[in-house]
Amino acid sequence: MNQNKIWQGNWTFILAAAGSAVGLGNIWKFPYMAGTNGGSAFVLIYFLCILLIGLPVMMAETYLGRYGRKSPINSIKKVVTDFNLSFYWKILGWLGAIAGLMILSYYSVFAGIAAAYIFNFMPSNEVDPVYYSLNYFSEFVGSPMKMIFWHTLFLGITCFIVGKGVIDGIGKTINFLMPTLFLLIILLCIYSSFTGDFLRAFNFLFDADFSKISTSVIIAAMGQAFFTLSIGMGAIMAYGAYMPEDQPIAKTIPVIIILDTSVALFAGLTIFPIVFSNPILSVSSGPGLLFETLPIAFSSLPYGSIFSSIFFILISIAAVSSSVSLIEPFTAWVEEQQIFTRKLGVIILGLFAWILGLGSIFSFNIWKEIFIFGFDFLSLMDFLTNNIMLPFGGLAICLLVGWVLEKEKMKKDLKMNSGFYNFFIICLKYVAPISIGTIFLSYFFS
Ligand code: TRP
Repeated sequence: MNQNKIWQGNWTFILAAAGSAVGLGNIWKFPYMAGTNGGSAFVLIYFLCILLIGLPVMMAETYLGRYGRKSPINSIKKVVTDFNLSFYWKILGWLGAIAGLMILSYYSVFAGIAAAYIFNFMPSNEVDPVYYSLNYFSEFVGSPMKMIFWHTLFLGITCFIVGKGVIDGIGKTINFLMPTLFLLIILLCIYSSFTGDFLRAFNFLFDADFSKISTSVIIAAMGQAFFTLSIGMGAIMAYGAYMPEDQPIAKTIPVIIILDTSVALFAGLTIFPIVFSNPILSVSSGPGLLFETLPIAFSSLPYGSIFSSIFFILISIAAVSSSVSLIEPFTAWVEEQQIFTRKLGVIILGLFAWILGLGSIFSFNIWKEIFIFGFDFLSLMDFLTNNIMLPFGGLAICLLVGWVLEKEKMKKDLKMNSGFYNFFIICLKYVAPISIGTIFLSYFFS
């Protein structure tokens, strides 16, 4: 790797990784999953998963990237060669690159809807906001052309940024987007605490109620921990390759995790007070929480439509800063192998994601009745990536870094004290693999 592909200063890596982590997963998925899985019980398990699995796997993944200093596919290849490992380990890099495109394909569909919602202004004299909102959503997703338009636009912007390069494209964009994102979420949280039912939202998220903990809550929380931290597919590994050599991983990753978790909590503390402010609405409405329920809630609040637009701008920003990390690993590989230039490479990969995304779009409308193994196309993509590929990738990362890499060098490179190091190794060797393995097994028995 040439020197000009190293991020300047320590903050760019932090913002880029936080940009990757903070996304639809925090602002859309976290609130609705917390809403449907009993609030505080889910939040508690989610915290545990972040601490015991997310933190060690994220550090390990970053370390692998910086160790290899190449695209995830080639960084893994280097580890395989350096340690004389079996050829099969190389699958890890490929699996990740492919998972990235698969996630991007439907991520861009939802991000497209969010972007379109910036312009969803409910008429101020609307007599039936519930009907208006539900109808708006079903008309939107019922129209393949509208959805394709926004999907194309979102994916186009993503590819444009990545095509401009790691430093000038991703780095510069992130340095501008992330501070904006943090400002907006704080602004919205203040708005909702003044206009909505903040106390009830707070209790809903933090009043520990252990009776609601169940296997399905645990599985959901772990899947969410992987997704929200962008771990298990090489996104963070790719960014790790651009990290300055002397940046202390052990101090940097916790910062990213704190940022990501804070945004998820702030998002919950923005959305729930607003939804609770309206007695006819429920927080457990699932994926429609953001696109159906929230606009209804906003409609009865002061300056609701302005803040609704600001809210969807926030989501769009969070989504772009994540989507670039989904396509970067594969793009970096294409560029490295000199198969195509970065620009042409990202266009071709983007085209793959675009086509795959059509399947997810159609599962809302013309393919509504078509099921593969009991899943519609979108749910199949979601299941394959979040429930199989990411945990599998995470497991492989744990085993590689926990059991194979040389420990003394790693301890020095990570700049950890002994206590933290022992925690890290125990999690990587035992806690994380056993938890992930148990969850895999639970699929077969549930
Ligand atoms: N973490 C992002 C979110 O919360 C999504 C994302 C970006 C992602 N890159 C990833 C998820 C890599 C898994 C793997 O919305």
